[in-house]
Amino acid sequence: MNLISHARKILAQNWKDGFTIPTSKLYPFQWHWDSGFVALGLAHHDLDRAMTEINSMFSGQWENGMLPHILFHSENEKTYFPNYNFWNSAVNPGAPEFPKSSGITQPPVFGFVLESLLDLYGAENEEVVNFVKNIFPKLLKYHEFLYTYRDAEEEGLFFIFHPWESGRDNSPLWDKPLGGIDLDNATLPDYTRRDTSLADASERPTQDQYDRYVYLLELGKKHRYDGPGIARESPFLVQDCMMNAILIRSNEALLNIASKLHLDAGKLPEWQSKSKANFSSKFWNEDLKFFVTYDQRNQQPILYREIGGIIPLFAGVATKVQAKYIADYLQNLHDRGFYLCPSFDVDSPLFDSKRYWRGPIWPQMNWMIYHGLKKYGYSELAEIVRTDLITLVEKLGFYEYFEAEKSKVTKLTKGYGGNNFSWTASSIIDFLNS
Ligand code: SER
Repeated sequence: MNLISHARKILAQNWKDGFTIPTSKLYPFQWHWDSGFVALGLAHHDLDRAMTEINSMFSGQWENGMLPHILFHSENEKTYFPNYNFWNSAVNPGAPEFPKSSGITQPPVFGFVLESLLDLYGAENEEVVNFVKNIFPKLLKYHEFLYTYRDAEEEGLFFIFHPWESGRDNSPLWDKPLGGIDLDNATLPDYTRRDTSLADASERPTQDQYDRYVYLLELGKKHRYDGPGIARESPFLVQDCMMNAILIRSNEALLNIASKLHLDAGKLPEWQSKSKANFSSKFWNEDLKFFVTYDQRNQQPILYREIGGIIPLFAGVATKVQAKYIADYLQNLHDRGFYLCPSFDVDSPLFDSKRYWRGPIWPQMNWMIYHGLKKYGYSELAEIVRTDLITLVEKLGFYEYFEAEKSKVTKLTKGYGGNNFSWTASSIIDFLNS
């Protein structure tokens, strides 16, 4: 079977009557940013499903505008922790009764997903135009949520209070902010992890990290997941460079859509100017020559070269000089025998080539980085980012994430984490169509 047919088959297998699971057992529900990338891939061969996928996601939107990170469309799946009971989204009166959801969000990818649908089918396609017009105000409301509930200092740069929101759960970025949690004094509810019996424990976050994830979940729940007490109390309060870059990219997409389809963008131009004006001064680090994430609780930058710091290129918020430093960083990794793009600085003692977000390569990240590099004219490097992912999938299968060191890959027969993974399939479909 060729790669595209294989990828489509995976998306078909993971389709659950209205939405796509990332992978069976390990993630048996609908995940926010996974779903966005899935829609990108589906759009190439099944417009109906792509639109249904997005509609399903928005069926879980809260009255305050929040778009949750997980929607539990089914209550029969027992292989995931924390499930709907543990989250108890009912603590917030604006959370829909069905589908039940988590109480946190994830990278705001749907703006650029919606734009790609319109680009693919054209503003003459009535079905797509009507669909986009219907989702547009909901998406605007979601962005408004981020600016209203998550921007305590009114900088146009939103905060997260849980590593799961960043999508990069156990990145070394979070070690220090998570370390601020006093677990000794915390009473944690009893819980049993499911992930480590479904994936290799050495490829997953540690038990200590999970205890801290549960602590933050409980803190969010105490404040009905949107209260001002979160910004006051959470030991983990972070302005993630990647998520803010993605928001800016999605804002731009919504502005493009508004102008093409003559829609009212409300306060979006104002939000976007503020976010763009403050982005570089908050996130660029002149010593590292890299964009870094900001620990708002401890009022200090988190000084690591981490994959989220490459995403500002995708958002178009890097200067040419900044983009050159980042392109040089990637070129150097390529020259040293790494597949692109490792999720963490390979020269740091914290780099771990197989443990989730502490080193491995992630398909959807390659997708965003590819487009970012192209935007700044680094076409050859972008092509390496694209073909590296294709090569890894050909060699190791449609896994969740991959080994970055070429010398190690030659000895491996599979990737890491979950297999038959939806965003891997989607990224491949889109890459092979670009
Ligand atoms: N990525 C998290 C998990 O592993 C949740 O979003 O369960």
